[in-house]
Amino acid sequence: MSEDERLISGSRRRDDRENIALRPRLLRDIVGQDSVRENLQILIDAAKNRSEPIDHVLFYGPPGLGKTSFAHVISHEMGVNIRVTAGPSIERAGDLAAILTHLKQNDILFIDEVHRLGRAVEEVLYPAMEDFVLDIVIGKGPAAKNVRLNLPRFTVIGATTRLALLAAPLRDRFGAQFRLDFYDIQAMQHIINRAAAMLKIEIEPEGTVEIARRSRGTPRVALRLLRRVRDYAQVRAQGIITGRVSEEALALLNIDHLGLDDVDRRILSTIIEKYGGGPVGLETIAAAISEDSSTIMDVCEPYLLQLGFLARTPRGRTATPLAYQHMGIAMKQDGSNQPPLF
Ligand SMILES: Nc1ncnc2c1ncn2[C@@H]1O[C@H](COP(=O)(O)OP(=O)(O)O)[C@@H](O)[C@H]1O
Ligand SMILES: [Mg+2]
Repeated sequence: MSEDERLISGSRRRDDRENIALRPRLLRDIVGQDSVRENLQILIDAAKNRSEPIDHVLFYGPPGLGKTSFAHVISHEMGVNIRVTAGPSIERAGDLAAILTHLKQNDILFIDEVHRLGRAVEEVLYPAMEDFVLDIVIGKGPAAKNVRLNLPRFTVIGATTRLALLAAPLRDRFGAQFRLDFYDIQAMQHIINRAAAMLKIEIEPEGTVEIARRSRGTPRVALRLLRRVRDYAQVRAQGIITGRVSEEALALLNIDHLGLDDVDRRILSTIIEKYGGGPVGLETIAAAISEDSSTIMDVCEPYLLQLGFLARTPRGRTATPLAYQHMGIAMKQDGSNQPPLF
C-alpha cells in the first residue's frame, strides 16, 4: 500500500491541503504539547523584549504532530517572514547561499527534513547559523579568493522525524530543541471539535471520542479521519456524526479501536507468527510485509512502541504480551518465543 493510500499515516497526503486553513496561527490556538508551548512562549517573549531574532529551534518527532505548524506559529508570533524549504531540495552549497543572501533581518528559514541536508550544504550552514557569515569562493584556480559576507541575524527552524540521523555539529547549533509527543485523548478531542466547527461539520461528543481514540495521538490523522467520517455521515446518516456513525465509518475503513490499520496488524502478526514473537530486525519485517522500512520506522513503530505492543532490543523488535492480546493470539506456554526449527 502506498503512503498516499494509508489513512492512518502521519505523513502528508494530497487531500491534506484543506488542513492549511486549519493550521493554528498563534500559540494559544495550539492544543496540547504544554511544555513545548510554554518554553516557546518564553523564548519568543524574551527575544521580542530584546528586539532580537529567536535562537535557532529544532523540532523532532513522528510525522503529523505539528512541527511545521509550530514553525509557522513562531513566525506569526514574532511578526517576521518565514522562508520554507526542505533538506532534499537544497542540493548544492550554492542553493543554500542563494537562500541565505536573500534573507532579511529577523527572518525565519524553515528547513523541513533537516536530516537530509548534504554534507557540503551543512558546511555552509554551520558558520551561517553560528556567526551569521557566508564564506564563498570567487574565481577559479590559483586566482580564487575566499570572501566572507556578513548575513543579517536570522533564525533557522529545523524539523525532523529522525533525530538520530542529524549530524552532531548541526544538532548542536540549535539552541532550543523540542521533542513533540503524541497528544492525549483530551487534546485530540479538542482538535477534532475545533476542526469540525471550522469545517461546519455537525458532530456529537461520542462521535468526537470515537475518532479521537483511533487517531493515534496525531492531529493530522484526526483531521483525515474526521473528513472520511463526514463523507460517510453525509451518504448514510443525514450528515450528523454520532458515536455510532463514527464507529461504523471507521470499521468500514478497517481501522480498529486503537487506530491500527492493516499494515500495523501485519507487522504484529509477522513478528508473532513468523518469528516467534521476535526479536527480528526491521528490514526483515519490512521485506516480509513488502513495506518501506522508513514508513515502518517513522509511522508505525513509534505508535506501536507507545502502545507498549513492541519493544526494541539490540537484536531487533519483539512483540509484547499486550500485542498478543490485541491480536488475539495465545503466547507460547514455555515462553520460548523462538520460531520452530522445522
Ligand atoms: N497542536 C495542534 N493543534 C491543532 N492542530 C494541529 C496541532 N498540531 C498539528 N495540527 C494540525 O495537524 C496537521 C499536521 O501538522 P503539521 O504541523 O503539518 O505536522 P508535522 O510537520 O509534524 O508533520 C496540520 O494541518 C495542523 O492543522
Ligand atoms: Mg511537516
